[in-house]
Amino acid sequence: MALQRVLQFAHSLMEGVVEKGDITVDGTCGNGHDTLFLAQLVGENGHVYGFDIQQDAIHHTEERLREHGVDSRTTLIQDSHSTINEHLAEEHKQKVKAGIFNLGYLPGSDKSIVTKPEETIASVERLLEQLISGGIIVLVVYHGHPGGKEEKEALLEYVQGLDQKEVRALQYGFINQRNTPPFIIALEKQ
Ligand SMILES: C[S@@+](CC[C@H](N)C(=O)[O-])C[C@H]1O[C@@H](n2cnc3c(N)ncnc32)[C@H](O)[C@@H]1O
Repeated sequence: MALQRVLQFAHSLMEGVVEKGDITVDGTCGNGHDTLFLAQLVGENGHVYGFDIQQDAIHHTEERLREHGVDSRTTLIQDSHSTINEHLAEEHKQKVKAGIFNLGYLPGSDKSIVTKPEETIASVERLLEQLISGGIIVLVVYHGHPGGKEEKEALLEYVQGLDQKEVRALQYGFINQRNTPPFIIALEKQ
């Protein structure tokens, strides 16, 4: 397929900017797929900070990272992604190259535990401050669940209001798919 699926596109964006030795953030670990992907991209001298509010998610992510032998280059935090400033090591502050957020709920788990608009926006704002110039944030926006529409609308309003001299904002998604297909918001710090 010539047009990349949403998750493929998210990973391509990450691959395009993340280099060995970089500092990255997975704002929503879930089962740890993106945390693992980032850990492999940053190599043994890089670092990934992974956040999730659910203990099970942290546990599954930990196991996945260990299975692949990349756990030592990650810090997993059972807390909201909005606490990022408290958890970044001093030497990693304002040195983050990329961050990813998969919004919504974790498939196969409690569907009432979802990302929330105010918290997601606060986290994106904080992460933007921690990004180096040329760094990116990728948000995969799932919005078919209760509360998803409100989060989608709040986020779009927020990113559309960002000053283009400071941040370039992109939206990517299919527009003729049934139901409520996810889409991507990607931000690049100038
Ligand atoms: C769509 S899932 C993430 C899927 C994940 N990327 C994967 O590869 O499996 C969303 C996750 O966000 C988590 N979450 C919800 N609110 C959060 C918050 N404020 N901070 C961090 N994680 C949060 C949920 O617990 C859930 O595991």
